[in-house]
Amino acid sequence: MKVAVVKELFPGERRVALVPAAVGPLVKGGHEVLVETAAGEAAGFSDEAFAEAGARIVSRDEAFAADCVLTVRTAGAAGDAWDADQTRIRPGVILIGTCDPLTAAGACREAADRGATLFSLELVPRITRAQSMDVLSSQANIAGYRAVLEAANHLPRILPMMTTAAGTVTPAKVLVLGAGVAGLQAIATAKRLGAQVSAYDVRPAVKEQVQSLGAKFVELALDTGSGEAAGGYARAMGEEFYARQRELLGRVVAEQDVVICTALIPGQRSPLLVTRDAVARMRPGSVIVDLAAERGGNCEATVAGQTLLVDGVTVLGPTNLPAAVPFHTSQLYARNITTFLTHLLKLGLPEVNLDDEICRDTLVARGGHLVHPKVRERAGLAPLESLATTPDRTT
Ligand code: NAI
Repeated sequence: MKVAVVKELFPGERRVALVPAAVGPLVKGGHEVLVETAAGEAAGFSDEAFAEAGARIVSRDEAFAADCVLTVRTAGAAGDAWDADQTRIRPGVILIGTCDPLTAAGACREAADRGATLFSLELVPRITRAQSMDVLSSQANIAGYRAVLEAANHLPRILPMMTTAAGTVTPAKVLVLGAGVAGLQAIATAKRLGAQVSAYDVRPAVKEQVQSLGAKFVELALDTGSGEAAGGYARAMGEEFYARQRELLGRVVAEQDVVICTALIPGQRSPLLVTRDAVARMRPGSVIVDLAAERGGNCEATVAGQTLLVDGVTVLGPTNLPAAVPFHTSQLYARNITTFLTHLLKLGLPEVNLDDEICRDTLVARGGHLVHPKVRERAGLAPLESLATTPDRTT
């Protein structure tokens, strides 16, 4: 199979879907690897390094003529670049990447109309055997780390306690809201930098994980017994719950120097946890980093993609922290995507095996149709009876 990697064109995106170290195993497996000119440059991987690893450097058009195109962002996740790339899609091409399927179902439909077989890496199920393919986790992990560094950079104080001849400096207080993948890494990073760290989550199961990292678990007088849904994700709670949570959290937030927000309910707007009023009650100079910015934010004062000063508090709404450290995020992403591709190849790609959970859950478009039930729903389409009995529109 001809497997191609294209240069990411989304503004500010510096990652690349494959790194030179991931080329060798594919070539050994009998595949030809094509890499678009300068695809890895922004992440620190030169064309020469890709060529040395066995890849052939090609134009964007040639890359899109391959059997399978690997991307970090495609369809809805690629923004304006998708408009130009769409016209390069040939019927039957296999497209793998993040494509924002649940909020940009329209772009996925365009990929389907062009006849692409589209796999969305955001839809990799959170099951043990798919862990090594889980791009959301690998990227969120680094985003959690980076969020703490962003906070430290904007904070007018240092994070650790320091005893010096000129006096003792007390450690900064860091609160992490949401202790999933990004949150746990934020806790670990803030601890490593010497901060006094506490965290809160609606899933009672994470209390132990928070404590094992040496942080304090914040207990609120709220019933979170039903806080966990399938796949280790949080369940959406009622508005009454959130109102009470905001009220109780307001008091905790007011005492912090840094708040890192990472609370997420999959496929929904981020829960609002920190009100504008709570921000106003923080000390001037405090910092909020809201990783949930892209989905509306956990903090009422957040504006996606901006850094604002709100009542003396710096509020950051980064939308792509993984792109700030592209060398390592690309390395992890490349491992995820090659494990995923190798899995599909074992199952018989270009054929798709819908008996396999990973293949079934990630397949968005095939044979000219949008096939994923949830994505169809978001695109306003009626459910498809069965892919096996639906005629292929591309042949
Ligand atoms: P995750 O699902 O592993 O963790 C989210 C956590 O939030 C879960 O532990 C969940 O129980 C918790 N949560 C949900 N509702 C809550 C509530 N009301 N109160 C307290 N906790 C609550 O998700 P992950 O992978 O850690 O991602 C976290 C966020 O970071 C997401 O919004 C994701 O989109 C974002 N992200 C942002 C990046 C950026 O550059 N801005 C990069 C990567 C991820």
